[in-house]
Amino acid sequence: MNTPGRRSFLPAAALWLSLLQLPACGMSGVSGLHLLPVPSELTMGAGKFVINENFRVALKDRNTPELEAAAVRFLSRLQKRTGIPMASAPVGTSENAAFEILYKCTGEPVQSVRTDESYKLEISKNRACLSASTPVGVFRGMETFLQLVDVDAGSFSIPALKIADLPRFEWRGLLIDVSRHFEPVDMIKRNLDAMAAVKMNVLHWHLSDDQGFRIESKVFPKLHELGSDGKYYSQDEVRDIVEYARNRGIRIVPEFDLPGHSTSWLVGYPELAAAAGSYEIERRWGVFEPCMDPSNEGLYEFLDAFVGEMADLFPDEYFHIGGDEVKATQWNASESIRAFKKRQGLSDNHELQAYFNRRMLEILTKHGKKMIGWDEILHPKLPKNIIVQSWRQDSLSRTVRQGYNAILSRGYYLDHMRPAAFHYSVDPLGDAAAELTESERKRILGGEACMWGEFVNPENIESRIWPRAAAIAERLWSPASVNDVPDLYRRLERIDRELTGLGLRHHALYRERMQRLAGNMDALPLLVFADLIKPPVLSIRKEARTYYSDTPLNRLVDVIRPESEVGRKFALLVDRRLASQPDAEAASMEIRDLLTQWSANNPRLQDVIEQSNLLNEIRPLSETVAELCRYGLDALNFLDSRRKPPQSWREKSVALLDRADKPLAEIYIAILPSIRNLIEAALQ
Ligand code: ACM
Repeated sequence: MNTPGRRSFLPAAALWLSLLQLPACGMSGVSGLHLLPVPSELTMGAGKFVINENFRVALKDRNTPELEAAAVRFLSRLQKRTGIPMASAPVGTSENAAFEILYKCTGEPVQSVRTDESYKLEISKNRACLSASTPVGVFRGMETFLQLVDVDAGSFSIPALKIADLPRFEWRGLLIDVSRHFEPVDMIKRNLDAMAAVKMNVLHWHLSDDQGFRIESKVFPKLHELGSDGKYYSQDEVRDIVEYARNRGIRIVPEFDLPGHSTSWLVGYPELAAAAGSYEIERRWGVFEPCMDPSNEGLYEFLDAFVGEMADLFPDEYFHIGGDEVKATQWNASESIRAFKKRQGLSDNHELQAYFNRRMLEILTKHGKKMIGWDEILHPKLPKNIIVQSWRQDSLSRTVRQGYNAILSRGYYLDHMRPAAFHYSVDPLGDAAAELTESERKRILGGEACMWGEFVNPENIESRIWPRAAAIAERLWSPASVNDVPDLYRRLERIDRELTGLGLRHHALYRERMQRLAGNMDALPLLVFADLIKPPVLSIRKEARTYYSDTPLNRLVDVIRPESEVGRKFALLVDRRLASQPDAEAASMEIRDLLTQWSANNPRLQDVIEQSNLLNEIRPLSETVAELCRYGLDALNFLDSRRKPPQSWREKSVALLDRADKPLAEIYIAILPSIRNLIEAALQ
């Protein structure tokens, strides 16, 4: 529910001392907690609940296997974090120092978009209690509990507080594209763990596209045998992943992109195509001509059998049919398709796609599924119970105005390599929705972060998803008023470490991959440099060269982090210096130290580059960064001594800023905006 009613707390315990009722906005900052996402209601209490070897999880309901399993996992994570030996299984009755879990509902056999995810957590000095009416609510509350665990010199505790929490949006997803590059089962599971940690609830699994068909079909085996280069999930693996997700309160929505983006289907079954011929797996990135033939009755028989097979594997009520970017070249060239359109009274290709979608909808309905698709499927001839996934400008408001339900992905594309703060600022009910009526706003069910697979592989995909996806998770869970960016970054740093502790590998290969680039040389100068740069937005990479699916993603741009933490903190430092606050002098000294170090890094890095073919392309980039650092130091000197820079320096610095603003080796300089600010301040 996007505008859920607030629930009241359970009756307060007699000894409860409510010290302060904090508003949702910035409350985590005020109280110093690290919760991400921030809960909808939180009241701090007095004292803390100490976690020691007597800690037990008391589970009142012993008949729900997924709760038993969740309690065991919870205890294992807690034990790993604290190092305190504790009972590894839940108990049935509450004892001293027990964390009681109250759960009073029969639950649902299959989690749905309507599942109640709310929970209440009450922690006092002597008692910790989590209550929820579904297992999913319990999972959410357990994650909150784990995020609250605090360490001081010799003990572990969680602060006394009361939380009553529920999501702002019911659909909080992550799309993982496994077609462009295949991603192994373990990687999918690690992402499910991370999603659960930040309370995301839908894995949108993009299983087929031009470049690969990634799931075993027993009914049409040539789909995976010929369409995947042998890289696909067996049905047993799929069942395992679905179960794994279910145990963490995550629905899995499979996507089979149709009728375009479908080359990989046509390799084994060319008779489904709108143009006769043979097909090969597509090896490039882009939008391609191969397309299904909507005028072919055989196509619907095929899809009926296929959806029937997949419907058994994927219990979720929603089934994603893709529908984006249909290139109509084959449709336009086909005489029989043109004649079909005329017979059916279909005036254009959008109508033809809507015809295909209506036939798909009949098939989905027959197999008990509801339709979701990209915003190209929006057409008045489709019934209102579908969901439209908005990825293009203005399509979200257009969709809900026409009476359809929608989720937002525009602004949540992780492959665009924008900072967490950018995604955080995108609110499904933000400015674009301001003109909508209340009932139109209610049709916005949430959103999905999208990890498209062109520029990610098993080595770097996790580093492109986490921790940035957590910012989107919070946007979709927490009240809209939770929007303090510095506080987001404070908590992202913490969740980033927690995800590492959970087993996520988003940092695991960083040093190893840098060492590979540095060859036999010490990688340190490269690591220092890598903190100062960032990957470009996606379009820059696409324009830079032709990429193929087997192009190794082993250049510096593929390894560096999407967002430079050093660059972000340096910007804060420069802001402090330029704001002329009391600590401006201290900031000046720190800036001077950093710029001196970074400038001195260049000759060391040039020595490494000398020995590494893979790094050759960054030679001029390193020179430019060093030059920027020197100009930044000059600027600081002019500012600190209140002198005016000479004309030649002015001209050279402006030319340098201009040159440094262009990508080199498909890389941007992350510290450039801050140095620009210093130089511009000196020029004034
Ligand atoms: C899309 O990005 N083509 C959905």
